[in-house]
Amino acid sequence: MLTNKPKTKILVDGGDPNETLRIKSLIGFVDGQTTNPSLIAKNPNIQRLIASGHTLSSEEENNEYKKIVQSISPLVGDAGVSIEVFADLKTTAEKMLAQGQEMFSWIPNAYIKYPCTHEGLRAAQMSVEKGIRVNMTLCFSQDQAAAVYAATMGSKSPVYVSPFVGRLDDRGENGMDLIRNIKKMYEHGDGHVHVLAASIRTVNHLLYSFALEAELATVPAKVLEQWTAKGFPMPDRDFTYKGVDTNGSLLKPIPYKELDLNLPWQSFNIAHELTTKGIQKFVADYESTLGRSA
Ligand code: G3P
Repeated sequence: MLTNKPKTKILVDGGDPNETLRIKSLIGFVDGQTTNPSLIAKNPNIQRLIASGHTLSSEEENNEYKKIVQSISPLVGDAGVSIEVFADLKTTAEKMLAQGQEMFSWIPNAYIKYPCTHEGLRAAQMSVEKGIRVNMTLCFSQDQAAAVYAATMGSKSPVYVSPFVGRLDDRGENGMDLIRNIKKMYEHGDGHVHVLAASIRTVNHLLYSFALEAELATVPAKVLEQWTAKGFPMPDRDFTYKGVDTNGSLLKPIPYKELDLNLPWQSFNIAHELTTKGIQKFVADYESTLGRSA
């Protein structure tokens, strides 16, 4: 078990309460959990239903999602359980908010995930005004993180922003640079947005998240098991991170941008191709449980 707890909170990135329980017994604690439509689609109960020929109605899917997060909720610490609204590229902020309000009532420690899009940011702004905790997902740029900061100013609870490291690595960009850049940009802020390193694929991603003092990291069980097997290494003062792809080639650095966090959120250039693709993938995975293809 881990004795020297890192400052970075550790969340399980998954959709299966048994997996969360297993990781909890391995590490000794789990600070929180993040879920998303793709991870919920992989939940063993949902998979069993589909394998038996039973495709779900959207109401059944919602009920399954609720049961899953209700089982996970008591297992985790104060970083809570993130629950993602269903949103395609046309979903309005009002529709996202209505889902967010309902999901927020499922468990006492919910964070509601909205995408880093114009409508997602509008939903987040309305949510924090109502005291709903939010986690802004599918973040791929510093501009998006600046917009999250500006849109949620005044939130009573910490707001999470989830930069997706692995998916940037996948297309040859050094995803960890984005974490470093956002952390640096937020040094000029009031501290209300916490960086949640997401799409973590390797133990090295995790160690560099610790070194950068990301407030939180959400990590697949597989990577947490690898970290455990290595005896819970921690980055020392000399730790250096080398952003390389799976072939060992250097990833392209992502440069830091000077952005003014006090500008209105609508003034930031929030469009990002990977956010659009990410939404499309979530929709497709969600629809697959309903026996439709997107
Ligand atoms: O937390 C984000 C995560 O679920 C996405 O990870 O591996 O699909 O990019 P991945």
